[in-house]
Amino acid sequence: VLPEDSYLTSDDIPLAAPGTPIEGRAERSDAYPVVVTSDADTAHRSIADLAAGRRIMLVTDDTVLALHGTSLVSALRSRGVEVEFVSVPPGERSKDLSVAVKLLDRLAHSPLGRRDLIVAFGGGVVIDMAGWVASAYMRGVPYVNVPTTLLAHVDAALGGKVAVDHPVAKNLIGAFYQPTAVISHIGYLASLDGRQVRAGLAEAVKKAIIASPQLFGFIESNVDELLARQPQALEQLVRCASAIKCELIARDPYEQELRRALNFGHTVGHAVETVTGYGPVLHGEAVALGMAVAARISLARGWFAPHAYDRLIGVLHRIGLPHSIAQLETNVDADAVIGALGKIRLIRDGSLRFVLPVDVGRVAIVDDVTEDEVARSLSAHVRAAAS
Ligand SMILES: NC(=O)c1ccc[n+]([C@@H]2O[C@H](COP(=O)([O-])OP(=O)(O)OC[C@H]3O[C@@H](n4cnc5c(N)ncnc54)[C@H](O)[C@@H]3O)[C@@H](O)[C@H]2O)c1
Ligand SMILES: [Zn+2]
Repeated sequence: VLPEDSYLTSDDIPLAAPGTPIEGRAERSDAYPVVVTSDADTAHRSIADLAAGRRIMLVTDDTVLALHGTSLVSALRSRGVEVEFVSVPPGERSKDLSVAVKLLDRLAHSPLGRRDLIVAFGGGVVIDMAGWVASAYMRGVPYVNVPTTLLAHVDAALGGKVAVDHPVAKNLIGAFYQPTAVISHIGYLASLDGRQVRAGLAEAVKKAIIASPQLFGFIESNVDELLARQPQALEQLVRCASAIKCELIARDPYEQELRRALNFGHTVGHAVETVTGYGPVLHGEAVALGMAVAARISLARGWFAPHAYDRLIGVLHRIGLPHSIAQLETNVDADAVIGALGKIRLIRDGSLRFVLPVDVGRVAIVDDVTEDEVARSLSAHVRAAAS
C-alpha cells in the first residue's frame, strides 16, 4: 500500500520520432519583495519571517560584523531562528574567487541544506560574492540581501547580478541569480563614513539621469540632508532608487538586449577600478568619473544640453564626487584607463559601447564612441561647475 502522503505522478511521454526536433526548455518567474524601513524591529522581523523554520548562514564582512552583526544575530536567535555566520575581510579584494571558494567550503561542512537560507549582510562586495556562492552551492540555494551601504541599498542588492572579480576584468565570473527578498534597513547607514555615503549617492544620481528627472530634482534639493545621513531623506532616496532599478530590471532582467542604461558611467568606471587594482578608488567614485566622462563625450557631440551637463557636474561636485581624473583619491594614468577599456568586453572593433546622457532622464546607448573621444573627455578640464 502506498503511504498516504506519497507524491504520485502519471505521464505518457511519446517516443521521439526520427527527425523531430528536440528542445530543452526551462521557465521560471522570479519576483521578490523589497522592504525599505527605518525600523530595526521591522527589519529583524522580516528576516525572521523569511527564515520560517529554515537555518540561516549569515555572510558578512569583519567591519559590518563588528558594527551590526551581534545585534542582528541575537535578534534573529531571540526569534527562534538558527543562525550561523561567516565573515570575510572588508573591501573589494573579498570579491574574489578564492574567498568564494572558502565560503563554499564552509557551507559544505555546515548543516545548511537546499531549502535553507543564505543572508548576505553587508555592502555590494558581500552581496555580489555571497549571491554568486548562493547561485552555485547545490545548484542554487535561496538568499536574502540585507544591504548595509548606501550603494548596496540603492543598487547592488537589487537585480540579481552576482559575481566575483578577476584580475583581467571586474565581475568576470558571475551569474544572474535573483534574491528571495531584499530587506533594506536605513538604520545601518548611520555608521557609514562620508566617503561611502558619497559613493552610494553616485549610483543614485546615475538612476536619476537615466530614468527620473524627479529623483534628480530630489537629490539636488536634498544633497545636504543626504550627506548628513538624515534618515527621512535617505529612506526616500532608497525607496525611489529601488523602485526605479526594479522597473528598469524587469524590462530586461537577463541583459539579453545588452543595452542597458544602468551601465551609465560603468564603461570608464570599471576600467578605472581595474587599473587601480580594485580598492583605492571606490566603485561609486569610479562610476561618478565615468558618468562625467560620458557626459563630456555627449556634450562634445552636441547631444547633451549644456544646462543639463552643468546640473550633472554641479550635483556631483556638491556631493563631493570626482568628475575629473585628477580628483580621484589615487593617481590614475589616463592611458592606462584607455588600455583597460580595450580588455573590457563591451569593446567591439575599436569602438566602445557607451551610455550617453541626452537630458536628465534620457540616455542614448551607442557603439561608436572612439578611444580618441574617451581620451579627450578623460583629460578635459572640467567646465564650470559653479552651482
Ligand atoms: N550587483 C550589482 O548590481 C551591483 C551594483 C552596483 C555595485 N555593485 C558592486 O558593489 C561593490 C561595491 O559595494 P560597496 O560600495 O557597498 O562596497 P563594500 O561592500 O566594500 O562596502 C564598503 C565598505 O563599507 C563597510 N561597511 C559596510 N556597511 C557598513 C556600515 N553600515 N557602516 C560602516 N561601514 C560599513 C564595508 O566593510 C567596506 O569596508 C562593487 O564590487 C560593485 O561592483 C554591484
Ligand atoms: Zn555600479
